[in-house]
Amino acid sequence: MFKKEVYISRREKLTSLVSDGIILLPGNTDVAFNYPANIYTFRQDSSFLYFFGVKEPNIIGIIDVNTGEDYMFGNDVDIDDIIWMGKLPTMKDFASKNGVKNTAPLSNAADFIKKAISQGRKIHFLPAYRAETKLQLQDLLNIPANEINNNVSEELIKAVIKLREKKDKYEIANIEASIDVAYKMHTTAMKMAQPGMTEQEIFGTMEGIALAGGGPVSFPVILSVNGNILHNHHHNNTLKKGQLLLADAGAESSMHYCSDITRVSPVGGKFSAKQKDIYQAVLDANVEVIKNSKDGVAYKEMHLLSAKIIAERLKAIGLMKGNIEDAVANGAHALFYPHGLGHMMGLDVHDMEGLGENYVGYNDKFKRSKQFGLAFLRMAKKLEEGFVMTVEPGIYFIPELIDIWKAEKKHSEFINYDKLEDYRNFGGIRIEDDILITKDSCKVLGKPIPKTIKDVEDMVNSGKLNV
Ligand code: GLY
Repeated sequence: MFKKEVYISRREKLTSLVSDGIILLPGNTDVAFNYPANIYTFRQDSSFLYFFGVKEPNIIGIIDVNTGEDYMFGNDVDIDDIIWMGKLPTMKDFASKNGVKNTAPLSNAADFIKKAISQGRKIHFLPAYRAETKLQLQDLLNIPANEINNNVSEELIKAVIKLREKKDKYEIANIEASIDVAYKMHTTAMKMAQPGMTEQEIFGTMEGIALAGGGPVSFPVILSVNGNILHNHHHNNTLKKGQLLLADAGAESSMHYCSDITRVSPVGGKFSAKQKDIYQAVLDANVEVIKNSKDGVAYKEMHLLSAKIIAERLKAIGLMKGNIEDAVANGAHALFYPHGLGHMMGLDVHDMEGLGENYVGYNDKFKRSKQFGLAFLRMAKKLEEGFVMTVEPGIYFIPELIDIWKAEKKHSEFINYDKLEDYRNFGGIRIEDDILITKDSCKVLGKPIPKTIKDVEDMVNSGKLNV
């Protein structure tokens, strides 16, 4: 945990941003995996972690906006728990670490909320993304579980995002620690990118490095020679010389701050000329966005900058044609780059996405586009000092999408469908870094992970002796 003053200050700021009533912030509960006593590895809710810092399950946090009093409702371990799990800190121990003034058994939360409701007080709560939380809120609030997310507090959502979106130096240190674990995951994957290795072996090794580093993976590792499938979670292939191996992976720090990095390695250690052209196009887009990202710049503008660079390079290769400004304005590049440039990152790898993607990445000035490709941009609004963003442009050759667009002659004034046939089985390339926005520029966080063609080849080749 951070120092208790951090949590006290965060709760005070939250209180100042909400006008009136009770803030109800349930932590997560244990969830059964395949039978009740065999549970998923516990992961605390990120907003609960942010304001209360406690990683244990089955605790409810409450803040009374009008009095400033704060509460944690949870049960201390009893002798049965101690026999199986050992002696764990009590609620009072947790309260001494996060500065919460009042603690009580979990069952008291229901009476507390019931009384507040009977007094006509507003109860603010956030959207629930787990069924268990919806059921818990149903019991506390007397609102049907399937209606919970229709009754959330927009005022609280906006207040939480306003605080969580700007990272302080302690959070940045945590994020950098998790990127250093990602460094080990990715350089190990590069070294293992040798013919005869299996995706499963590399996938498992990467997940193990994350766990050994102190936290879990920040999302299930994406590791595939079929990088054209954006989030490919199948690991059934054996690597062949000349293939491209895409690894999109990150870890959580011991305090659950995330990393999210993508690298692509040539299996066997040498990119072909064709692969180099596409790789360099993606790298140029990644580097130009990093050069131009700073406080005050809209991320939508950065997305369009990356799209323009990709379209220009594809035109030079002969896969696109015509006026590039027009091609990007019409969304023709999205055949190759069908996703957004990136997202916020913090305690969640897609930070705060559970509170609503549009609340996080859009506002009155930036409305979500309906255009294919641009519609998937998670973050469009202006960057601010303290935001942590992923920068993850990519180029993909998705045979099924190519066939549909080609049959429709879609954007045929901008796409050279004949030449595209030579690329059907190319796969996909994405290059992703995590950046901290500063006043006049941005900083690529963590230990640099090889990303130039030469550095990636060198890292792959350094692994040959070990395989
Ligand atoms: N890098 C994985 C994701 O953004 O979902």
